[in-house]
Amino acid sequence: MPNLHSPSLLHKIAAVTLPARKSMGLTRHQLIHRWRKHVSHSHPQLMTTDLYPEETRMLLEAFEKARPAIYLEVGVFWGGTFRNVLKRRDELSLPCKCFAIDIWDELYDPSDTTHGTGQPIKDIVRRALVSEGLGGFELLTGLSVDVKKLISEKIDFAFHDANHTYAALVEDLDLLHPLLADGATVLVHNAGKEYEPDKTYYKTDGGPYQAVMDLVAQGKWELVTLEYRMAVLKRVP
Ligand SMILES: C[S@@+](CC[C@H](N)C(=O)[O-])C[C@H]1O[C@@H](n2cnc3c(N)ncnc32)[C@H](O)[C@@H]1O
Repeated sequence: MPNLHSPSLLHKIAAVTLPARKSMGLTRHQLIHRWRKHVSHSHPQLMTTDLYPEETRMLLEAFEKARPAIYLEVGVFWGGTFRNVLKRRDELSLPCKCFAIDIWDELYDPSDTTHGTGQPIKDIVRRALVSEGLGGFELLTGLSVDVKKLISEKIDFAFHDANHTYAALVEDLDLLHPLLADGATVLVHNAGKEYEPDKTYYKTDGGPYQAVMDLVAQGKWELVTLEYRMAVLKRVP
């Protein structure tokens, strides 16, 4: 697979494709995105995660303890964490249906803009998971606020790692609350204030940290622990 981040390769692609791009009205990034989406089925960030190893351990230990029947990840990016959860589920032989929702390239198509090719491509993530022998999952397209329309079963365990503003997290946790089973576990990423980018989120508008603290104070959630950048919450009925 050619390294599309190599500057010399990018320049060559730019030169060779200039006449075609001009006639099609496409920028270089738009062309690369379309090539990836339809031909390459790969991406440098495919199956990566921005979780610290300790955070992945926290998530997998909480998952193992909860033994959920329905798992939901909100904000999947290129699938690294979702893959880790699916693998752990299979190691445990747990009959757990796993959902993952993101806006992917389907609600937000980066090839329509002049910059960036970073938005995860749903079909590439799906193929990568299947190629590792993983099944029993569904990749949903939508905003976090669409979960209610997309999942009919009660959710036992959720991992939130989507929009990290104060208002977005309050909205998402309020919307998730009635969709969760009694005593369900929810892990919220970037909910600290000690490490980046949480520090910046906290300074900006209170971020996930303040949102979690305020919701816990309202009594709808119990804070089990907050370590690294991960808050572990239990739904209070
Ligand atoms: C930090 S990444 C997720 C990383 C992933 N959980 C992991 O551990 O590798 C955030 C993702 O959330 C998605 N996202 C942002 N806001 C969203 C929203 N309101 N609803 C659904 N997905 C959203 C973005 O498209 C992006 O893929």
